[in-house]
This record gives sequence, C-alpha cells and structure tokens, in this order.
Amino acid sequence: MAEINLQEIHDLLISIAHEAGRMQMSATPSYLDSGTKKNSADLVTETDQAVELMVSTKLRTAYPSYSFIGEETYAPGQTLTDAPTFIVDPIDGTTNFVHAFPAFCISLGFVVKKAPSVGVIYNPYLDEMYTAIKGKGAFLSRGGEENIRLPLKKNPEPLKDLSTCLIGAEWGSDRSGGNFELKCKVFAKLAASKEDGGAMVHSIRCMGSAALNLAAVAAGQQDVFWEGGCWAWDVAAGWCILSEAGGIMASGNPGDWDPKIDGRKYLAVRGAPSGQKEIVEEIWGIIGEGRLEYES
Ligand code: IPD
Repeated sequence: MAEINLQEIHDLLISIAHEAGRMQMSATPSYLDSGTKKNSADLVTETDQAVELMVSTKLRTAYPSYSFIGEETYAPGQTLTDAPTFIVDPIDGTTNFVHAFPAFCISLGFVVKKAPSVGVIYNPYLDEMYTAIKGKGAFLSRGGEENIRLPLKKNPEPLKDLSTCLIGAEWGSDRSGGNFELKCKVFAKLAASKEDGGAMVHSIRCMGSAALNLAAVAAGQQDVFWEGGCWAWDVAAGWCILSEAGGIMASGNPGDWDPKIDGRKYLAVRGAPSGQKEIVEEIWGIIGEGRLEYES
C-alpha cells in the first residue's frame, strides 16, 4: 500500500467539516420530526443521514481503498480492522442539535491499525475546529482564526485529586439495567461530600457529545471524561486530539490501561505534569466491583 499522507487527509477532513457545518446550521430540526433508534433518547434526523452521505461520498471518491465506518450506515457485525479507516459521526450530540443547544459537532476520525491518526471535530454553532495529526500536536481554531496549540494553558497544573476536578460524564441512552445503575452510583459518589464517602468533585458536566467532551479534556477545560456506551465514531477523532494534547485514554472499567477504540468504555484524563494515573485509579476505585457491560 502506498504511503499514507496524513496531512492531506487532515486537510480534506477540515474542508468536509466546514461543509457539514453549513448543512447542520441551515437545517431546522425538531424533536417532532426526528426519528428514534434504540429508544426515545437515541435520536436521528434527516440531517445526520444527509451529512453522512455527503462525507462518505467525498471520502470514498478521494480514498477508494480505505474503509469507512459511519454512525448512520453502521450495520451490526461490521468490525474495525487494521486497514486505514475513516470513522465518522455526522452529528455527535444529535439531542443537542434537535434542541438547538449549542454543543453538537461533526466528528471525523482516521485510524490506521486501529490507532487514532487524524482527528477533526467541528462545532459549527461556536465555529470551533479541533484538529490533530498523530505526532504533530493538537490545535483549536476559533472563528477561522489562527490555530492555538492544545492544551490551552501553556503550563497545565498537576492533577491533585478528584476533589479539584471538573468531570465530564454522560447518561447515554440506556435508562435502566446494570449500566444505568452503575452510572447513577458513580455520579453520586463523585459528587458526594467527603464526609459521606464521596470525592466531592468540583462538578459534573453532561455536554451531550462524547467528541466535544474529549475536545474539552484535550483543551484542559475539563479534567476528566468518563463514559460507557458510546461508539468508535464518537471517540476516534477526539482520542487523537486528546493524545496529541498530552492527555491519556484508559478504559472506563478498572484495570485496563490500553482500551480498544471500539471497546465502548472510556476514561480520558487531561494532560498534566503529574497525577494522571492517580486520577484514573481514583475513578476506578469509585467504580469498585461494578463493571460497564456493552457489546462491541
Ligand atoms: C451520543 C453522544 C452522547 C453519548 C451517547 C452518544 P450521538 O452520540 O455522544 O454524549 O452519551 O452515548 O451516542 O447519538 O449524538 O451521535
């Protein structure tokens, strides 16, 4: 196979992200005409489908020999292989999109041998473009301005313990069963006072988009993101941006420092001169004997 030109892929993904942003911003979605997938909290709109068609057409034309996985055309059984693969969520944060809550984006990832190699995340509402190429750093461009290198703070503080952390976490769309119960337990323990056995974190944010959560951790605006249930297309781009900004990705379940991109359980910690592993272990301690269970 010819050498892969990551810069060229990055540049194409940025132009596709702009086009997707125009499509998202000119749409007028409503929860009344959005469809549901698994349940009433798992939404899909015509715009999700139209954007994915635009993206897949452009990528297949430019790179016919590379694989493509997209949220709206994924079929159970389709697996991620070692082949160069575009992993795309046309709208991450569809619920926000439908409610005009300004936290949705397109998430465009490119992985080689399952390793995140290019990431582009674009929030058109805020005109914020997060980008990274493996080995070349991560960047944010706001309003088309010059790239700012991530993390935003030049000298990020060390991570002390969870009591000084702002945490990103998501309910997801499962609202019963073991995964839901474990999330409720972990959320309560993260928030509770030390006197009551909790970690008393600064707070917990539910942004509604895994990709934007990872971008926020890469930027250093959130210290941690913990989630189970989201998919490779929600994290492929953000993972590349996070790693290039000095952050780390562990599993959302205790004990696994080398999680799979399609493993559906993630724990991201921002870049810091010290304390990253300790924060992972503190969260794993809160999860305790519980385990997130999601089929890949
Ligand atoms: C969802 C968002 C949400 C996460 C869900 C995802 P979608 O993606 O990333 O934050 O909690 O698990 O499915 O459906 O908006 O593309």
